[in-house]
Amino acid sequence: MTISGSDLINLESYPFHQDGEARARVLADVREKLARDGCAVLKGFLTAKGIAALTAEADGVAEQGHRSFSRTNAYFTQDNPDLPESDPRRQFYERSNAFIPADNFASDGALRKVHDFDGFDSFIQDCLQEEKFFRYADPLADVIVNMADEGNGFPWHFDTNNFTVTLAIQNAEEGGAFEYAPGIREDDENFEEVSKVLAGTSDKVTVLELEPGDLQLFRGRYSLHRVAPLKGARRRYVAIFSYVEEANMVGSVERTEQLYGRTLPIHHARAGQRGDSFID
Ligand SMILES: [Fe+2]
Repeated sequence: MTISGSDLINLESYPFHQDGEARARVLADVREKLARDGCAVLKGFLTAKGIAALTAEADGVAEQGHRSFSRTNAYFTQDNPDLPESDPRRQFYERSNAFIPADNFASDGALRKVHDFDGFDSFIQDCLQEEKFFRYADPLADVIVNMADEGNGFPWHFDTNNFTVTLAIQNAEEGGAFEYAPGIREDDENFEEVSKVLAGTSDKVTVLELEPGDLQLFRGRYSLHRVAPLKGARRRYVAIFSYVEEANMVGSVERTEQLYGRTLPIHHARAGQRGDSFID
């Protein structure tokens, strides 16, 4: 039995595939939220069937995931010993990344049926109002699944990219809330308030409990954010859809090797050309 995209996506609530008033209403709502604090969540974007199918698919290829570890500050910069020890640029955190590369997801599988559904890309583009908007052309990275286990999470950081598009598939038993300080460095770096967020004493943090099936659009360049540490035996799965400003872009050899543990001929053929989509 093959499952179709219209069984997986909650098109009743989010009829993005048809032009008309209903689509326009969803779009207006998402844009308003993005304008307000850089974050919009389309609750229940997947149907129950969709959640089950994407979870089963991720479980089936989880073994192919690649883990990497890094120690980063919120700015992804090197340590600067000239700054006081208390400076937020000197607060480093362990970060664990585990990504299931995109080529594990078959074109007739559930995840790509969502990604390839008619009008999905253009709907996301309309939501974000980005003029230059192309699907990442990297066969290891156009749509991936991040997996995280107990003790993992994503420490506080600002994104280096303009936006992220993620779809929650499965939550850990506990923890994993998405926490963000909207626009905390909109006007200037605001190191004082950033320090408070890192210390857990800021009142500027919004906490979002994302549930399986929720689609999130987030602009994280100016909003400090993290995924709170996970607890329990169940693994968290989140799909990440990547879009870039230019057609035909793929990742660099070094970065692809680091994130996915391998490269393909296309990465070497394109080496030296502009590339790389930053996951955050
Ligand atoms: Fe991020």
